[in-house]
Amino acid sequence: AETQYHEFNIQAKPVKRLCRTHNTITVNGQFPGPTLAVRDGDTLVIRAINNAQYNITLHWHGVRQLRNPWADGPAYVTQCPIQPGQSYTYHFTIQNQEGTLWWHAHHQFLRATVYGALIIYPKFGTPYPFPMPKREIPILLGEWWDRNPQDVLKLALFTGAAMNLSNAYTINGQPGDLYRCSNKETVIFPVEAGEAILLRIINSAMNQELFFGVANHKLTVVSVDSAYTKPFTTSVIMIGPGQTTNALLTADQPPARYYIAAEPYNSANVAFDNTTTTAILEYKSAPCSSKKGKNSSTPIFPQLPGFNDTATATAFTAQLRSPHKVDVPTQIDENLFFTVGLGLINCSNPNSPRCQGPNGTRFAASINNQSFVLPTRNSIMQAYYQGQPGIFTTDFPPVPPVKFDYTGNVSRGLWQPVKGTKVYKLKFGSTVQIVLQDTSIISVEDHPMHLHGYEFYVVGSGFGNFDPSKDTSKFNLIDPPKRNTIGTSPGGWVAIRFVANNPGAWLFHCHIDSHLTWGLATSFLVQNGVGELQSVQPPPVDLPRC
Ligand code: C2O
Repeated sequence: AETQYHEFNIQAKPVKRLCRTHNTITVNGQFPGPTLAVRDGDTLVIRAINNAQYNITLHWHGVRQLRNPWADGPAYVTQCPIQPGQSYTYHFTIQNQEGTLWWHAHHQFLRATVYGALIIYPKFGTPYPFPMPKREIPILLGEWWDRNPQDVLKLALFTGAAMNLSNAYTINGQPGDLYRCSNKETVIFPVEAGEAILLRIINSAMNQELFFGVANHKLTVVSVDSAYTKPFTTSVIMIGPGQTTNALLTADQPPARYYIAAEPYNSANVAFDNTTTTAILEYKSAPCSSKKGKNSSTPIFPQLPGFNDTATATAFTAQLRSPHKVDVPTQIDENLFFTVGLGLINCSNPNSPRCQGPNGTRFAASINNQSFVLPTRNSIMQAYYQGQPGIFTTDFPPVPPVKFDYTGNVSRGLWQPVKGTKVYKLKFGSTVQIVLQDTSIISVEDHPMHLHGYEFYVVGSGFGNFDPSKDTSKFNLIDPPKRNTIGTSPGGWVAIRFVANNPGAWLFHCHIDSHLTWGLATSFLVQNGVGELQSVQPPPVDLPRC
């Protein structure tokens, strides 16, 4: 195993998209940021130097950070932000993970432009469990706002609502042919006829689940997040924010230019940007492909589902399986039932710019009616480690305070989310099941839920209200997929299981950033076990203080 050293210089740089230039926060001047490529077992030492004018943190999405919450990154959960002019070194080892992950800023809105790929190859000498591809292509799906990120940030912090309206989706930072002024910069991937290509697809969009496809080419899904799957072939992939998918493609079509495209899957059908981002798969032998100039033949466009095609989205996710029988916990110590969804809070001053909900209310989101508020005086992990009281409480409810028909015609006034910083304590080694139930208060939608510090098994999902007497017996306890981010079905539920064997404070949240801003989060606090190997490591000396 090796150790890689990197410097991430966080700085504002002018970035031009859609004909206009905006001063954008970047890493080392790059947008998207640098790709990290390591092998399982390698150690990364990344010095983050904040030369921007905002507080910031970095998060290594999907890396388990065993006993090492200090390197996880969510602001005010595991660390205080890195202030302008300061630096912090993230030091962590990849342990038994392979696949595609990514990294992103984890403070306020900054992940909109501060993100990049984190590719994990197998240990040296270990082959992929599929034929070796000739070429690998990372595909970062993202969003772009045609205004100053500062303004988006302000709007986002105030209302959360403006964040839903990006001006373009992007592939590796570029909107592509179908957007104004973007044609020249469209990303082109040259390929040789006949070769096998591994696409490493990452959804780093802020608020949008996406359908993805490549014209005339079949995709064979081989892994999601950082675990392999039983291979299956599809023409369309649905990918939620935070999720990654590796898929093999064989360049077996007549030599030509083919669009790689992504467009929204919008389970809620509220205001959003319904446009398509494209890149081009260009066969090197395509007729009239010239070495100098750009090939001008119009690429072939893929067929993607309609933006509200929940049947296709659900069918895609339902096909995912682990390649072999896996070790799913069967005796459950902690049986949690979490409602996830939106809500409205009454405003004392309905004219405040924060109160953009109907009738002068304010949008909120909650788990079990608890709308999560980050602390400001310290991070949860630091406060816990130092025994500092008053930063959080441990009374997060394991079940909703009120039982109702969660997916029925529920009145908006049924409950008002209550704000607080409540965490849920877990004993080291306890086996945990969480049923995540979408609610239809305000909107029915898919919430891609992400757990920090862990991978979990997705043992079941369905539409409507979860019914333990019927649904539990249908759980897949043989070969469920292993993930770090999974969506509730819109107007439905999903069940996950894991063993709480990684001590620390671990954020659990909806990866739709507007929902996170509104409070759709909580944190687990996994206690130390017995001895050093079951306990959190001491914090690094340069860990920022609040
Ligand atoms: Cu990818 Cu808490 O984030």
